[in-house]
Amino acid sequence: DFAPANHRPLFGRRILITAGPTHEPIDPVRYIANRSSGKQGFAIAAAAAEAGAEVLLIAGPVPLPTPPGVIRIDVETANEMAAEVEQGLPVDAAIMVAAVADWRAADTAPQKIKKDGSGQVPPLALAENPDILAGLAKSPQRPPLLIGFAAETNDLIAHAQAKLARKGCDWIVANDVSADPMGGESNQVHIVSQDGVDSWDRLPKAAVARKLMEKIADELEKRAP
Ligand code: CTP
Ligand code: CA
Repeated sequence: DFAPANHRPLFGRRILITAGPTHEPIDPVRYIANRSSGKQGFAIAAAAAEAGAEVLLIAGPVPLPTPPGVIRIDVETANEMAAEVEQGLPVDAAIMVAAVADWRAADTAPQKIKKDGSGQVPPLALAENPDILAGLAKSPQRPPLLIGFAAETNDLIAHAQAKLARKGCDWIVANDVSADPMGGESNQVHIVSQDGVDSWDRLPKAAVARKLMEKIADELEKRAP
């Protein structure tokens, strides 16, 4: 299905979206990653373009097609994603759907790390990645509407409220990944903001994306008609 041609509530708005996991190299053949499929972020990019926005999608490594009308930039690591997000500013809204790896290998080996036959395991020291969302919240070019996502396995709303405050964003879209495992086709989300919690039914990811676009369009219209 498609939005009718006269229903373009995000026409003239510029929206930045991050999606997918990041891959953090250990050596040329190994990396640290997570289970993010990129499906929800890509569905959001598709819905934003259908709603008439100019959409910049900064995507971690996922084998998904680029939605029609979306400008896509592929990245591997959190540091690359952070740099591309900064390049993409200014925007009217940013939706940070990516499951950014929290840690990278402190050192990346230039050659494949080999077993030495002794049974000793190599040490793997980690370094913390930049928090792209928190950085954007403090940026002089902070988007007027800044939205984070949170996948939690427990104490969903409390964790989401803590994240909202810690990161300085406007909304956290929270979902329980023990009920909807990452990589699935649907999501039951809760929009957590300073105004409270807006809990939606479990919906296909494309429907979550369209509903989110309506909410974003309403909010942008309120702030800057
Ligand atoms: N995020 C980000 N950069 C990071 C980590 C997270 O931009 N380095 C963003 C995600 O895209 C998401 C939000 O922050 O929109 C919340 O991510 P999450 O992993 O839930 O938050 P963390 O602060 O990393 O907390 P946790 O310890 O639960 O992983
Ligand atoms: Ca994290």
